[in-house]
Amino acid sequence: MLSHAVAALRCPVCQGTFQLREGRQRTLACEAGHLFDAAKQGYFNLLTGKGTVFEADSADMVAARHRFLEAGHYSGLARALAQAAAGPLQRPDALVLDAGTGTGHYLAAVLQMSGATGIGVDISKFALRRAARLNPQAANLVWDVWRPLPMADNTADVVTVVFAPRHPAEFARVLRPGGSLIVVTPRPGHLAEIAARTGMLGIEEGKDERLAESMKGYFDSGTSQSLDLPLLLSGQEVADLAYMGPAGHHLKRGELAELATLEGSVATTAKFRISEFVVS
Ligand SMILES: C[S@@+](CC[C@H](N)C(=O)[O-])C[C@H]1O[C@@H](n2cnc3c(N)ncnc32)[C@H](O)[C@@H]1O
Ligand SMILES: [Zn+2]
Repeated sequence: MLSHAVAALRCPVCQGTFQLREGRQRTLACEAGHLFDAAKQGYFNLLTGKGTVFEADSADMVAARHRFLEAGHYSGLARALAQAAAGPLQRPDALVLDAGTGTGHYLAAVLQMSGATGIGVDISKFALRRAARLNPQAANLVWDVWRPLPMADNTADVVTVVFAPRHPAEFARVLRPGGSLIVVTPRPGHLAEIAARTGMLGIEEGKDERLAESMKGYFDSGTSQSLDLPLLLSGQEVADLAYMGPAGHHLKRGELAELATLEGSVATTAKFRISEFVVS
């Protein structure tokens, strides 16, 4: 499985093909001799030089996301995403790229349902430590999705993006003709009951239109479905939810500790949209 993913990868320095060297140290080695050693958890850091200007999620933010997702609050979303991806992943040797894979939670669900080969990319090495443990059969790569992806043209059957940055031109390049991009976004009213008290940003109207607009020229719109998940959360879970998203970068420890001591439970609804786009 990993070897199939490696065949789709390209060296970010020279665009050459990689060979996977196994042994005491696992290494991706390109034809020109550029070497990328696996970290001890199993992921590969392909970001060379200056790294990235983006603020990667911290170890604590990743731990919060891991706790929240593993508790199963969003398992309905993982199932719906895996179902949406299963159709286009029916081909033997099918390949899926999960952009901004985080802890690998959603990629795990997609791989389990489809039996496909996976590539997960994220700029946070803390996230990839978890992802590599959860999806050891996938290629887990530290990479910035705003840069050209370290993948060959026309290799992926599906690209999934769950609450992570989107680079339509690159997603279209790595997808096979007719391949699918599946994007999960929050809808207006998402977690409204807790957004106000945690500094989470509200979801503005018109987001779907802007998403569709950003895909023009690369993708045709396909199907779209909305999914509502009612949640009943403890104070600690509210704190994790606030910390695991973009607001986590700005929340202070004191604010989180205060949320975690909230008495009783908070009822709210997660509102998602799952949109599929097909390569034009
Ligand atoms: C809100 S999290 C979602 C993670 C995962 N898809 C999930 O839903 O559990 C956003 C993820 O995007 C990653 N990310 C942010 N900017 C990125 C970039 N430029 N390139 C790659 N990953 C990025 C973050 O590190 C984080 O793991
Ligand atoms: Zn190279």
